[in-house]
Amino acid sequence: MRLEGVLRVPSDKSISHRAIIIPAIAKGKTLIKNWLISEDTKATLNIFRQLGVPIYRQDEYVVVEGKGWEALQEPLDILDAKNSGTTARLVLGVLAGRPFFSVLTGDDSLKKRPMGRVLKPLKKMGLPYADGRNNAENLPIALRGGNLKGIDFFNEKASAQVKSAIILAGLQAEGITIISENRKSRDHTERMLKFFGAKITIKEDKNLYTVKVEGNQELTVSSDIEISIPADPSSAAFFTAGAVLLKDSKILLKEVLVNPTRDGFFRKLKEMGAKINYLNIRNLSNEPVADIEVEFSQLKGVKISPQEIPSLIDEIPILAIVATQAEGITEIRGAKELRVKESDRIKAIVENLQKMGAKIEELEDGMIIHGKTPLKGNVKIKTYNDHRIAMAFTIAGLIAEGPVELDNYECVAISYPSFFEDLKKLLK
Ligand code: S3P
Repeated sequence: MRLEGVLRVPSDKSISHRAIIIPAIAKGKTLIKNWLISEDTKATLNIFRQLGVPIYRQDEYVVVEGKGWEALQEPLDILDAKNSGTTARLVLGVLAGRPFFSVLTGDDSLKKRPMGRVLKPLKKMGLPYADGRNNAENLPIALRGGNLKGIDFFNEKASAQVKSAIILAGLQAEGITIISENRKSRDHTERMLKFFGAKITIKEDKNLYTVKVEGNQELTVSSDIEISIPADPSSAAFFTAGAVLLKDSKILLKEVLVNPTRDGFFRKLKEMGAKINYLNIRNLSNEPVADIEVEFSQLKGVKISPQEIPSLIDEIPILAIVATQAEGITEIRGAKELRVKESDRIKAIVENLQKMGAKIEELEDGMIIHGKTPLKGNVKIKTYNDHRIAMAFTIAGLIAEGPVELDNYECVAISYPSFFEDLKKLLK
């Protein structure tokens, strides 16, 4: 078995959320090319429809007709972010500045995930009313926004969702909002806002990244603006791993986002000895993209430091699987955030890889993997309904001795509905 061929994986999930939210708060018509249709991004789209924004399909585009902040309306019903943390947190940042009542909920997984990290700074900005389960730590959360003022905020967890929520609130606030972080998180909100002409300033020193947002901003789109969304590196990571691990493989992944805050997985694999090349590097709507060529490779273990975590956080499940096939020790630290993703990913990775015979130790904030060990098949993987666990262990199944079964296949639709079809196309 090997992987061979050319594939353009579906578009980036993080950018697709922002490609609804930012046009929805701007004044003017935005045409979005290659918008990702997935369960998570549909949750964002439906919420903005409920807030009164016309969003529709026109030929190959998704069109958002924004009419500015003031046009957002009090929703008639509860807003549902489903499984999507990005939707919940970014929407809270938008609603915080709106003078109306709303209730936000999510599915069983999202209801367990922390929201206080967003609500606390929003309350500091003057959010008039917000309450929710467990002292406003968990959804459902009810709120009434308005009258925000700028704050100076340190983003301790290096969360792009928290940063983006505070930026979105800052745009509606009185005065200046400053957000800083010492591990730079994904910067798609900043890049897209700049693309829309927003007044935001970035300062980047070696150990501190700072975003300064001017308050009371109305974004205006002069003529119809077009955003083109690149392929998702987090989706491309699964086939990259498959090609690196399966003998005689060679694939080309087209138009992949290679933003340095997102491509840590590819850089780390190169450091492990993988044959990965970026071809035709170019710019797409203020984001860097490349075609990525990947070949079967011999690997050695590496250390992943806390500083590197944000750029590969969503790829750790598949990175752990790759590490089982690398000679020596791979150590992942500073990744405690994995415990509060769609599932406790540290637990899910360690438990399932141990079942497959890997030598892996669980740490509170990461894991240590001793390679290289063959992976056993004839196991049933517990996905915890987590899309990335399901896709990562599908790839593990390709190198295992014997079949691997998942307890939930459908959850891949959270980010990548056509994952199994695309895998079939490349499998030779
Ligand atoms: C995302 C940010 C990251 C990432 C998530 C998507 C985003 O989460 O894990 O899949 O689009 O902003 P955190 O911001 O919570 O670290």
